[in-house]
Amino acid sequence: MLLPIVQFGHPILRKMSEDINDTYEGLPKLIADMYETMYKAEGIGIAAPQVGKNIRLFVIDADPCADDFPEVKGFKQVFINAHIIERSEETMLTKEGCLSLPGINEDVRRPSKIRIQYLDEKFQPHDEIIEGYRAIVVQHEYDHIDGKVFTDHLGALKKRLLKSKLNAISNGKVNTKYRVILP
Ligand code: NI
Repeated sequence: MLLPIVQFGHPILRKMSEDINDTYEGLPKLIADMYETMYKAEGIGIAAPQVGKNIRLFVIDADPCADDFPEVKGFKQVFINAHIIERSEETMLTKEGCLSLPGINEDVRRPSKIRIQYLDEKFQPHDEIIEGYRAIVVQHEYDHIDGKVFTDHLGALKKRLLKSKLNAISNGKVNTKYRVILP
């Protein structure tokens, strides 16, 4: 089932999300719906707050970016209760966009290596080092479960230049091929 995607300016995107346990009702269906919604909207990741739920869940399939970043070939993963516990000093600058901020694409600098603990969809625990563009995609989605969006990482000047575009989204002026939930 396709879910509408919450747009920038909605308070749900600014809340810290909570861990869940394996009794969370309807989780397999929610995960399937998030993938369906993400593919249809041509995203490479989507987080639960973007579909209106403040829980620590996000899904990724970054395989479509493998031409530009070979390390994401086949990178499809569900992350539940994710917690990043280490971030590298080294950074990487890449162009980001977000289904909650349509029409905005900006260069963002992030750590190029992270250590992350999470559960997969079977609630099996993982403790992994993730590098390169995989780490970038994970950190973008992880931001959403911590109440952040990618434009938060931009400098003051860039933010000022984007202000009118961001205000337009907050005021419901969006033009997307997918259904949305406006602020
Ligand atoms: Ni996003």
